[in-house]
Amino acid sequence: MRGGACCFSGRSLALANATARQQSRANESVILSMPAKFLGGMMPELNPSHIMQVGMGFFASKTLLSAVELGLFTALSKQPMTGAEIARTLGLNPRAVPDFPDALVALGFLERASEGAGATYTNTPESGKFLDRGSDGYIGGILEMANARLYPFWADLTEALRTGLPQNETKHSGEPMFAKLYQVPERLEQFMNAMSGISAGNFNAFAKKFDFSSYRTLCDVGGATGQLSCMVAAANSHMRCTSFDLPNVVPIATRKIVQAGLSERVTAVGGDFFVDPLPKADVITMGMILHDWNLEKKKVLIRKTYDALPEGGAFVVIEALIDDARRKNAFGLLMSLNMLIEFGDAFDYSGSDFASWCREVGFRRFEIIPLTGPSSAAVAYK
Ligand SMILES: C[S@@+](CC[C@H](N)C(=O)[O-])C[C@H]1O[C@@H](n2cnc3c(N)ncnc32)[C@H](O)[C@@H]1O
Repeated sequence: MRGGACCFSGRSLALANATARQQSRANESVILSMPAKFLGGMMPELNPSHIMQVGMGFFASKTLLSAVELGLFTALSKQPMTGAEIARTLGLNPRAVPDFPDALVALGFLERASEGAGATYTNTPESGKFLDRGSDGYIGGILEMANARLYPFWADLTEALRTGLPQNETKHSGEPMFAKLYQVPERLEQFMNAMSGISAGNFNAFAKKFDFSSYRTLCDVGGATGQLSCMVAAANSHMRCTSFDLPNVVPIATRKIVQAGLSERVTAVGGDFFVDPLPKADVITMGMILHDWNLEKKKVLIRKTYDALPEGGAFVVIEALIDDARRKNAFGLLMSLNMLIEFGDAFDYSGSDFASWCREVGFRRFEIIPLTGPSSAAVAYK
């Protein structure tokens, strides 16, 4: 597993818990190695801190999500501020300070220069790079969407577990998820920004790690803003890329491709991957596409990909692939529960699930390339 539990809480809590867990395990192993006669009914000392950390994790999560929503990190990128200045700038009630910024200090997202009312707060290097809306490394789009959509929808997880039904905007209408989501232009933009935020690190790593030397063309199916295509084209000057997605996404992708100065080698094409044939290319990529669908539809997309590739072509999926034993990649497993919330019957999967589905249609060789955090690329070669 690579960092699957990274999403839960701030550094200090995590460190405190790791130390407490190690201590508790050390105590347990000393006690368990004692001959039974010395134990005299003594129980190994158990520690509830991990239970508390996860159970109350939403305190930390929502504090960070509200800070992103309010633009706190963007405001602090311009100048350090005292608690009172933060409240004034963000339009907060005086009761919000100093608890709100101090909690973010304790969680590891802000730094505070000294003590008391005159102390100023600044971003940590990571908050400044990834959470300031003006930074080119901004990944807060996924947190903005988590705050606006996923956080309230996850309140109905128990209902989803009981019914197997989605708990998002489609809950009462039963409309298809993307059609419903894209009805509102602001929600379409928000979803696109969320995808850019969650995928930037993985696509950048993939563009640099994958060996493109024997390929010339790539089609990114469900390519959203064209981010993967642009990153591959920027890192591999011989590659021509097509970003294929639903027609209402094409103007957003085209705008981003022009902004990146890559219109010569990257094109956005509109279509429906269940209705239209996939554009032919040497490499076909799907970032977080198969996990949106049930097994039957996953297999339709795998078959269509096989048909669109030449002999020797590569099919690449980029996902938070679950470890084969389904024990370690907590983020991948939680993402699969998120697919229950969003779609009902959709689910995440492991590298060996992917290989077995691909083998059925004729793919012959497989490879896993670790990307960032809990995510990997699984590659099937035709
Ligand atoms: C979860 S997002 C993934 C976006 C991007 N690949 C990434 O990993 O950041 C799924 C994408 O599939 C696209 N999509 C959904 N249904 C589609 C369809 N029937 N045909 C083409 N694209 C579709 C959506 O518009 C969206 O951009």
